[in-house]
Amino acid sequence: MERLKIIGGKTLSGSLDIQGAKNSVLPILAASILVDGESRIQNCPDLKDVAAAIKILRHLGCTVTRTDKDVYIDSSTLSKSDIPDNLMREMRSSVIFLGAILGRTGEATLSMPGGCELGPRPIDLHLAALRTLGADIEETGGEIACQGKRLRGCKIHLENPSVGATENAMLAAVCARGETVISNAAREPEIEDLQNFLVSAGCRVRGAGSPIVVIEGTKARRAVVHEIIPDRIVAATYLSAVAAAGGKVRLKKVIPAHLKTVTDRLEETGCRLQIGRNEIVMTSNKPLKSMSPVITRPYPDFPTDAQPPLLASVLCAMGTTVFIENIFENRYRYVDELRRMGADVTIEGRVAMVSGVKRLQGAVMSATDLRGGAALVVAALGAEGESTITEIEHIERGYDAIADTLRSIGADIWRLEDEG
Ligand code: EPZ
Repeated sequence: MERLKIIGGKTLSGSLDIQGAKNSVLPILAASILVDGESRIQNCPDLKDVAAAIKILRHLGCTVTRTDKDVYIDSSTLSKSDIPDNLMREMRSSVIFLGAILGRTGEATLSMPGGCELGPRPIDLHLAALRTLGADIEETGGEIACQGKRLRGCKIHLENPSVGATENAMLAAVCARGETVISNAAREPEIEDLQNFLVSAGCRVRGAGSPIVVIEGTKARRAVVHEIIPDRIVAATYLSAVAAAGGKVRLKKVIPAHLKTVTDRLEETGCRLQIGRNEIVMTSNKPLKSMSPVITRPYPDFPTDAQPPLLASVLCAMGTTVFIENIFENRYRYVDELRRMGADVTIEGRVAMVSGVKRLQGAVMSATDLRGGAALVVAALGAEGESTITEIEHIERGYDAIADTLRSIGADIWRLEDEG
């Protein structure tokens, strides 16, 4: 069983290139089935979730090849319109393929994506948006069967700015006749990256990054060469690691504006940041201070995905920091594991109160989910002694070669594989 072994207490220093964004490459891989010919996706991270998405593309009949960070998808041989249960279970965010399969083939069948470690993950907003575009959708026995040979442009209002629902609506609307206007759309940078892919393919999409996205259905869509934007959450995670362990790091190939709410908080703890055009240099060389309340909200506010690593970075800060998690119901499961290191965190529903302790002791822990697992790595790097983290498949869903990456800036971290 794979695990991470970490000897904490070493300061970190050096520079890192930040990987391509998981939450951008997934919808763009889905979008690749809408274009004629072979698309080339550059700066694609090597992740378990990307491997799962490639399995889905191959199941649908696409030809997919990969060389290092480039993935080539030829969807001209696409022949299916379903995602089998085993592939849905491998990655619940496979629901992001729904709009593209429906738009391309006029039908789509997939099993209801279950909840996940973060709690129930409803898709009612996705289905409502597709129904507004004219799809007939049956939900029976845990299966979703969609029919929609003639989607038509319309006005879609999202009750809440769901990232996935915005992306599914955009991908189906590209194949609809006429204009679609999505209001209260999610504003995350990954939505803009998806829009840029679609515009390169000849689609008429505008407004991504604002609450109103307008899509004009287009028939001909040409293959695309597209470079994935840097992963703002991975960048936030590695900065949190340096904040916790101390040291100085230069992150290259980042878009600082995408993680400004995180770097503002790290500045509040006393870390010193120099923000460049596409790099961030951060120094952490004194005990951290606590922060004013960290409240997660949809972009451009503080991102829920950065809550676990940032919380882990202030476990030994002076004073108390309050976190309020507004997006997911169950995003503090990793805190139990942090307590094994001596962390002092009180949870009341959506509120976590972190009281700084003098030091953390290394411990044996188990990753509960993707970002919670990353939080354990952050805490272990700042702790004294040895930590072991198991169930690291959760972490490897979203972090490309996390041990090698952190070791390259001086962390004592190793990925070990047990026999049997
Ligand atoms: C995306 O998930 C990301 N995943 C998540 O990142 C991220 O945390 C989330 O957006 C919020 O930013 C990918 O992009 C693959 P939502 P998504 O729909 O689209 C509720 C990570 O760690 N909701 O914006 O599933 C939902 O329950 C992952 O990389 C409905 O009620 O998130 C949640 O409370 C974790 N009905 C809120 O909206 C729906 O139909 C936001 O969810 C859809 C969502």
